[in-house]
Amino acid sequence: MNNTFSVTLSGSDVASLQTSLLVVLLPSDPTIPATLAELDKRVGGAISAAINQRDFRGSRDEILFLSGVEGGPRRVALLGVGATSAHSWRRAGALAARTALKLGTGSLAVAGADFSPAQVESLAAGLHAGAWQYLDTKSPPPEAERKAPVASAIIAAPVSPDSKTALANGIALGTGVSLARTLGMTPGNICTPDLLAATARDVASRHGMKYTELDRAGLVAEKMGSFLAVAQGTPQEPRLVAIEYSGGKAGEPPVVLVGKGLCFDSGGISIKPAASMEWMKYDMSGAGGVIGAMEAVGQMKLPINVVGVFGATTNMPSGTAMNPGDVVRSQNGKYIEIINTDAEGRLVLADLLSYVRRFKPAAVIDAATLTGACVVALGHTATGVLGVDQKLVDEVLAAGNASGERGWQLPLWDDYSELMQSDVADVKNAGGRWAGAITAAAFLKEFVGDYPWVHLDVAGTAYSETDLGFIPKGPTGVPVGTFVQFLRTRCGN
Ligand code: BES
Ligand code: MN
Ligand code: ZN
Repeated sequence: MNNTFSVTLSGSDVASLQTSLLVVLLPSDPTIPATLAELDKRVGGAISAAINQRDFRGSRDEILFLSGVEGGPRRVALLGVGATSAHSWRRAGALAARTALKLGTGSLAVAGADFSPAQVESLAAGLHAGAWQYLDTKSPPPEAERKAPVASAIIAAPVSPDSKTALANGIALGTGVSLARTLGMTPGNICTPDLLAATARDVASRHGMKYTELDRAGLVAEKMGSFLAVAQGTPQEPRLVAIEYSGGKAGEPPVVLVGKGLCFDSGGISIKPAASMEWMKYDMSGAGGVIGAMEAVGQMKLPINVVGVFGATTNMPSGTAMNPGDVVRSQNGKYIEIINTDAEGRLVLADLLSYVRRFKPAAVIDAATLTGACVVALGHTATGVLGVDQKLVDEVLAAGNASGERGWQLPLWDDYSELMQSDVADVKNAGGRWAGAITAAAFLKEFVGDYPWVHLDVAGTAYSETDLGFIPKGPTGVPVGTFVQFLRTRCGN
């Protein structure tokens, strides 16, 4: 990763905190908390004046700069948290760190009313996100214009065993999210199937997880005609990777996370229009999410068994590429008619969903930037959530909500499967115009084994097309938060 970042707790009074930037986090219509009384005095009552005069209202993302304190924080800013929710503290932490990044202060501290352990965790994850930068492929500006990366942050909060655990968990989540974002941002010519595999191997080896990797010959041996159909158009070696983490009881069925890892999706022979095609480097975000989640799980040492699986390749037009009309045989024996070579993610996932049967999963959650139709339906605000096991769907929706990664369920009634019937094969890989996000899931359903399954379409949520303030344009880290929260709820952690 390109930036190292540390977060610590401090229980001492904020008025005397030696920091280059103190960000005071306050919810809507704030009153001044006791923890800030001394600081308020030291800044000549500027905080209470700003609140009383309604210059500062604590609205979401609102920022008001005050002057610093001699012998204490050199700069002070008030930052609005808005209505407090699971998401709001993470967002506020991220915006605070991004503010430090823009000022070039190199570090910061955040303070407010006594933060609860849950808030400490959200703040740590948020600060991590705000400090994240992708610098690998950009030359630094001239010396005079350089801004220090944010290397460290302090959370002013009562130090207790609970808040320390919360801090560690927040950092673990933040690290996983940042890893996923870095992979997402990394250009397709650098973030190849090999790089994804090497990154996963590194995560596995650092956390004592079992690592399995299949190359093209391995996919042939596994009879994965569907995955291979996508990979046949590219000279790059495809990779199927499985990482097994055994934090739970031996023999306990694992939760299996599955990710789509298209390092670039040109559409293949059914080639995409040129406009915005560069965004298709993000088509590996499901795989990046799996890798990021495994990193967080390893750092948190969660008491649960988890398997992370992804399939990585690129979708290219070439003399060896699959063609519309081709029929291929997937690992579970079903024949697939390829109607549109741009519906390649589901071809990769089909074989992955068959492959994971060997783990006898307690549950399988796949994440994929699967359809433009999902972006049309839900925009960049919510992940499409589909499945027929309503209990598992509800569990995943709850995990998304709690982690600030909202999901919205779309129906997956049998009626939709009719749209995927083929004249020459058992199923076709593309339906008509309508309900594209749902028919994609209906296709996947054909390959799901005897286990509870939920599909996350993160086509809209894995990256942001615009700078949202708390997060810059680019990768968001979704679905790492959802994955990790799901696992933590499952193991009561
Ligand atoms: N990777 C794309 C989906 C996508 C589109 C992700 C926009 C992010 C933003 C996927 O492989 C794809 O091309 N899907 C097709 C399916 C269609 C051919 C049935 C689509 O959505 O157009
Ligand atoms: Mn495609
Ligand atoms: Zn794709």
